[in-house]
Amino acid sequence: MRFASSEITSSTAYRLLTSTVVPRPIAFVTTLGKDGIVNAAPFSFFNAVGSSPPVLVLGFEPKVDNSVKDTPRNIIETKEFVINIVNEALAVQMNICAGNFTQDQSEIEIANINVTESTEVKPPRIQASPVSMECKLFQHTALEGGGCVIIGEVVQFHVQDDIILQRDPLRIDVNKLNPIARLAGPDYARITDQFQIQRPK
Ligand SMILES: Cc1cc2nc3c(=O)[nH]c(=O)nc-3n(C[C@H](O)[C@H](O)[C@H](O)COP(=O)(O)O)c2cc1C
Repeated sequence: MRFASSEITSSTAYRLLTSTVVPRPIAFVTTLGKDGIVNAAPFSFFNAVGSSPPVLVLGFEPKVDNSVKDTPRNIIETKEFVINIVNEALAVQMNICAGNFTQDQSEIEIANINVTESTEVKPPRIQASPVSMECKLFQHTALEGGGCVIIGEVVQFHVQDDIILQRDPLRIDVNKLNPIARLAGPDYARITDQFQIQRPK
């Protein structure tokens, strides 16, 4: 079956993307809103796209009323954010933060999430996250349908000591990191089934 983007609804395009571009990593993003309110929300249109400098990309859909979500608005206004990696222990709190809250409500209070100060940016990081990346806004592009794409440059990495296998060259224990990934709808994946292929020399 073929689907021409010009002939399908954005809802079908969303379903095609979210059920075939899988599994997607989840960025649990903390930002600061007006009056210093800490905002936290998960986003799986997310990936690392370069290492020199280290850059990450996030994709934002508009809200159902077509307004801009709090996270991209805060990032564009303050130019700073933190991406916290979601392990299985954080899954329930991460999901609570995807609820529909107003700008003056802090998800971290609602979901009972402890945060701690960042070193290079003002938004705090999530204490229980195994890896947090402090980011500065690198570039943002508005999309026709009301969404936007944001590229962030990582200025500081925080990695929990116990997931570091080796310091130099750096090796992370992905089993201890235990990240969860998004499939379609309410479905998630673990990365417990791995295999190796050696690259050709
Ligand atoms: C696992 C997960 C992944 C999500 N990924 C995205 C995404 O990539 N882009 C997006 O716009 N919304 C995504 N959402 C929905 C947002 O988290 C949700 O709209 C949230 O309320 C936005 O909060 P904010 O207005 O505080 O930024 C996702 C939700 C979940 C549970």
